[in-house]
Amino acid sequence: MKNYINGAMQKNWKNTPLTNKKGISAGRVFRILRRFSNTHILSLRRLIEDITGINRYQIQFSEKKIPLTAITRIIYRYLQILSGKPYAYVVKKKEFIDNYFFVNSRVLIPRPETEELIQNIISGGYINSLDRILDIGTGCGNIAVTIKSKYPGAEVHAWDKYSNVLNIAEKNAVHILGKNHGICFSKIDIIDFAKNDASWPCVFDVIISNPPYIGAGEFACLEKSVRNHEPRTALYGGVLGMDFYISIKNAVPRLLKHGGKLFLEIGHTQHTAVAGLFNFFESNCIILDSYSKKRFFFGLNYAGYA
Ligand SMILES: C[S@@+](CC[C@H](N)C(=O)[O-])C[C@H]1O[C@@H](n2cnc3c(N)ncnc32)[C@H](O)[C@@H]1O
Repeated sequence: MKNYINGAMQKNWKNTPLTNKKGISAGRVFRILRRFSNTHILSLRRLIEDITGINRYQIQFSEKKIPLTAITRIIYRYLQILSGKPYAYVVKKKEFIDNYFFVNSRVLIPRPETEELIQNIISGGYINSLDRILDIGTGCGNIAVTIKSKYPGAEVHAWDKYSNVLNIAEKNAVHILGKNHGICFSKIDIIDFAKNDASWPCVFDVIISNPPYIGAGEFACLEKSVRNHEPRTALYGGVLGMDFYISIKNAVPRLLKHGGKLFLEIGHTQHTAVAGLFNFFESNCIILDSYSKKRFFFGLNYAGYA
């Protein structure tokens, strides 16, 4: 498994061995810091492991010395965690299927249900090796980069409305797949695209999207750490959370080949509305996630609609 961010951290440590006599033992650092909160002990273990490489379950009694520079870093990050910042933003990375992706507060933190969506698509054999594939709302690039890594011969396009988001996606593509990653990143607003009539030069075999789909009522009830830290532009999908599905529906005739496939992540209360919207696929199904919630829409064999 690649872990370039940890790799970079370990490099900085080359000249400061953990047995440095000036340091304090990892166990002592852990025991002092855990007094500040009973609810963040796991995050504290993960943080110390991330920074020192010491296994999180052996930290408590570890006599290995941690240099002061690393202790400062641990304290600084732990204070961010205590203030409610999501762990992934504090350590600036999140694992998604086989890779770690750089993330910061400009992009949504990839979710386990999105991993499930992609694993279902891959294990279902829905993608052919030379397909032309579009990821709408790419965020940190987790879907596009994972698909390209599994199907190197596919032509993968990734769209997002925001250049600062696309910069992060491209950075991840370069780190994970190399400079010649081959993904075509474009700054395209799907809401505008759906409204205008401009022709599009190519059609796709597969469209995948995890668009913003939180409605107004649900938005107010989101966990504080999500509402206060993750970008609203990646979450809010209009009053009913349906705006992006409507735009994708309107864009499909210009984007999808006849016989093409559409895969969407959806909110667990949106299955009826989404299935109704995309009833022009020959096979149209809602897939459950591992908690038996109706979380994914699979539209197979697009037959065109008037
Ligand atoms: C729910 S996030 C999904 C991020 C990533 N694909 C994932 O699955 O973790 C939705 C993404 O849609 C992008 N987005 C928001 N409005 C958009 C628009 N009008 N057109 C295209 N992308 C948009 C956001 O910037 C965000 O990156």
